[in-house]
Formats: sequence, structure tokens, C-alpha cells
Amino acid sequence: MSSNKQQARSFAASAMPAYQPESSGHIAPHGGRLVDLMVREKDYKRALVDSCHHKQECSDRNACDVELLTVGGFSPLEGFLNKEAYEHVVEHMRLPGSNLLMGLPVVMDTNSEAIREGQRVLLTYKGQDLAVMEVESKWLPNKALETKACYGTTSLEHPGTLMVATERGKYYLGGKIFGLDLPQRVFPCATPAHVRADLPTDTDVVAFQCRNPVHRAHYELFTRALHAPNVRPGAVCLVHPTCGPTQDDDIPGIVRYHTYEVLKREIDNPNIRWAYLPYSMHMAGPREAIQHMIIRKNYGCTHFIVGRDMAGSKSSLSGEDFYGMYDAQEFAIKHAPELGMQAVPSLDVVYTEEAGYVTAAEAKAQGLHVKKLSGTKFRQMLRGGEDIPEWFAFKSVVGVLREHAQHKSG
Ligand code: ADX
Repeated sequence: MSSNKQQARSFAASAMPAYQPESSGHIAPHGGRLVDLMVREKDYKRALVDSCHHKQECSDRNACDVELLTVGGFSPLEGFLNKEAYEHVVEHMRLPGSNLLMGLPVVMDTNSEAIREGQRVLLTYKGQDLAVMEVESKWLPNKALETKACYGTTSLEHPGTLMVATERGKYYLGGKIFGLDLPQRVFPCATPAHVRADLPTDTDVVAFQCRNPVHRAHYELFTRALHAPNVRPGAVCLVHPTCGPTQDDDIPGIVRYHTYEVLKREIDNPNIRWAYLPYSMHMAGPREAIQHMIIRKNYGCTHFIVGRDMAGSKSSLSGEDFYGMYDAQEFAIKHAPELGMQAVPSLDVVYTEEAGYVTAAEAKAQGLHVKKLSGTKFRQMLRGGEDIPEWFAFKSVVGVLREHAQHKSG
């Protein structure tokens, strides 16, 4: 990548805001209004809890969904999808009625035979009362249909399909949510309203989603994105990592949180903002890219960085990729205008001895020497106490990861 501008793929781009601003100057949330489902009156809260017929403990994934629903991260949703909306989203990637885009269904699952439609359920999580749910529908989902439509496969070799088939309960529940509390987390997750309040107005806000520690390639991506052809001068980048559950061999959210915190201090750049997202990854490639864009729009972002293999996954048996390298990116570019957002795409970037980080195509065309370090090799080196090259990872980040790796193996 010889210049900042070369990093972005060529596509029709305008330097003018493509989004519909709110009166505050920020982009309007998906559906026009930021949903806030938190009940604040104590007596009303108590009455809601007293009216519940059942209690259900949330999984880590459920707790992320409840939190995002409550704070409006999933605006315009006001609860878990009912059967009709679920089927519509699965089949059309849109909400019925409004026809608004929705990348993936947001569902509550249960194995309870006792919960019935019309009843209320108290959703608890690690000793907290998170929400009351009014059960509008309960059904036996066609999980094969869901995973085929959303993940492109019914194979249990896909981590998302495996999660739907083996972690989720037998039934899905749909219905309105009344928020009581937000999960207490080691990593504080600012609500969309708070993130918006801290963002400058009338400027582009470029979101960077990640579920891995920020290494040098990621850093190149989000710093160069501020100079992409479709990003106006003066833009800020919101680094917004998901800290909820992800696929099994990823680094746990809590450990990643510490890596982000040390890096945030190290970078100390007012144009690079940070916040954490309580979202559980599906590894659904293209459809997940749309889900992430919608969520970031709700957090006030106008642009969304999408590189290679975004939210991609490999077969747990053969190691083969389920999606093409740019499937998610192309899908994001296609749907961004409808969301009033812009994608900031990046080709695969690699480190070269001669020119630092450039696109893989440039490295090949110019015969540059590419240095590579696979995730597996990186983890082995961490555990073995070997030096990690600085072209690959930041020292501060490596320090945190090494501590975690040695703690785990020791
Ligand atoms: S995820 O969102 O795709 O699941 P991850 O942490 O792996 O999270 O990547 C974050 C973002 O960086 C994604 O947009 C991904 O496409 C992009 N990305 C990561 N590595 C590279 C790379 N070497 N070249 C281009 N894009 C990359």
C-alpha cells in the first residue's frame, strides 16, 4: 500500500455525507429512533417482576442480546423477534412490515416446556434480574432452515451452526422486553446514547469492528481508513470490539479487553475512539457484516470498515473457508446505501520487508518479500515465551496475551 488512498478499493464514493443526520448532527438510528427499553421507576420494576410466571437464566449469548435490545443497539427492535418476524428475517434478511434490513434474527431460546405464550418471564443472569419478557410466541424453530439461510450451511463444522444446534434450547421465544438492569461486566459497555454523546457531530464516524486483539494489520486498517476517499477530513474512528462470546478458539473477551485498554493508552490519539460491544459473534460472514453495520449505525457511526474474511469461519474438520475472502465486504458495500452508511473496504493487507504493510496484490506485483505469522504459530510462540516481531503485534498487547497464554498453560 504505497499511499493511504490506495488502500481503499475503488467504488463510487462521495465526500458528502450520504447519511440522514439527526437534529443532533449524528446519523439517525436504524428505523429513525433510538430504542430505550430500560424501565427506571422502582415501583414499576417491582410490579413487572411480581407479574412473572417463570424465571429463566440467560446464557452469555442471551445476556448480550438482552443488553443490546435494552440499550437500543438493535434498534428498531423492542424485544426478541416473534415467530413471524423471525421467519421473515431468516428468509428475507428484513423485518416484516417496515421492510428494514436485519442481518440475523435476534432470538431467545429455552428448553422450558412450562413457558407459554401470553406469560411473562424474568430473565436473570449471574444473580441479576436483567429484564422481563412478555412471551408473544413460542415455537419449535426449523434450525436447519435458519442456519442454511443465515450462515449458508447446515454443517456442524460451522461454529454458528454448531452454536444454534447444540447451545441453543429447543424452543424460541419472541416478545417485548422490559429492561431492569444491564449485566455487570469487567469491560464496561457504553450504551449507544452514551457513545453518541461523546462523538463529534457533523463529521464522519468510521466504525472498526473486531473480535481479535488489535494487531499491526488492524491498526493500519483503521488509521488509514480515516484517509479513505469516501471519508471526509476531520473524521474519527470508533474502535468497537465485540467482547461477548465468539468461536471457541478465539481469545476470550475479558483478555482482549485488557489488550485494547493497554493499546488505547499507547495510541492515545483523539481521533481514535474506543468502546466495547456486548455482542456474541455468529461467524456468519456476509449476513453478519450487515448486522454489525446496523448496530454501528445505532451507535452513531456513518462508515464501517470491512476487510478480508470479515466474521468468516473455517470448517472445524477440513479447515476450509465457508465464505470467499471478500463475500462479506461485497455484501456490505451492496447494502450500505440502503442503511445510509458507507463501507470502507480494504483489500487483504500483508507485511513486506521492503515496504511495510501493502495489499497482497501489490506485494505480488512488485515481488516484495511477505512476512507471515499464522494465528496458531503466534499462540505457540506466546506460550513458548518467544519474541513476537513488532511488525506483527504491539509490545503492550503481546504482554497481556503472553500473561494469559502462560497462565492458561501453567
Ligand atoms: S471480524 O469482525 O472479522 O470477525 P477480526 O478481528 O478478525 O474480526 O477482523 C477485524 C476487521 O479487520 C475485519 O473487517 C477484517 O476483515 C479486517 N482484517 C483483519 N485482518 C486483515 C488483513 N490482513 N487485511 C485486510 N483486512 C483485515
